[in-house]
Amino acid sequence: MSMIELDQVSFSYGGRQVVNQVTLVVPKGKHVGIVGESGCGKSTLLKLLSGLYVPTEGTIKVAGETESARISKAVSIVMQTPQLLPMTILENITLGREYSKEWIDHVVSLSCLDQWIASLEDGLDTYLGDRANELSGGQAQRIAIARAVCKNSEVILLDEPTSALDHETEKSVLEALRRAAEGKTVIHVTHQRSHLEAYDSVYQMREGKLYE
Ligand SMILES: Nc1ncnc2c1ncn2[C@@H]1O[C@H](COP(=O)(O)OP(=O)(O)OP(=O)(O)O)[C@@H](O)[C@H]1O
Ligand SMILES: [Mg+2]
Repeated sequence: MSMIELDQVSFSYGGRQVVNQVTLVVPKGKHVGIVGESGCGKSTLLKLLSGLYVPTEGTIKVAGETESARISKAVSIVMQTPQLLPMTILENITLGREYSKEWIDHVVSLSCLDQWIASLEDGLDTYLGDRANELSGGQAQRIAIARAVCKNSEVILLDEPTSALDHETEKSVLEALRRAAEGKTVIHVTHQRSHLEAYDSVYQMREGKLYE
């Protein structure tokens, strides 16, 4: 069974085509890496896969869904730039859904957020408000990872998820993501080929096209 099916998908910003007739099938449970030069269309492709953008041509099916709003519900994505909201840390992780305390604790420790959160007076209930952009890049990135892991979707999309982390934290988070992604379908965009060593396949993206 395939979890992701792209058939001749293209996408343009205005008149400029940046994803060019991409066809891709990813079976359930496979882990796929994508590498490629800056600007070749990797983030745009992930945004298409996450239902954030609708293809200008071609069709997309992710987790059995073809409609963008339903695709969004069915996937977890860590975007290249963390999108934090003026809410508490906890709300930024859960996006208002209910989860058990055990699950939240698990997600927080998996994302290497536990030490930092323990050092905050209000812990997980710390209100980020307009100060969300005062967080360090690594703190924001780990909240974004926690949000994606918390959602526990069948499909996980990762866009340079550890680029802002120091080497040690990056190692821990990648290992934790690997465990969290067991049995799930993963697409991981990175400039670090070494992060994709255990992956089932790695594609190279060039000028909007995917090459095996
Ligand atoms: N919102 C936008 N509006 C117009 N053009 C855009 C927009 N987002 C990206 N682009 C353009 O589309 C092309 C592909 O961008 P994209 O972000 O997908 O590249 P990328 O492969 O993820 O690059 P990087 O490795 O730097 O993250 C680039 O030329 C970029 O300038
Ligand atoms: Mg990108």
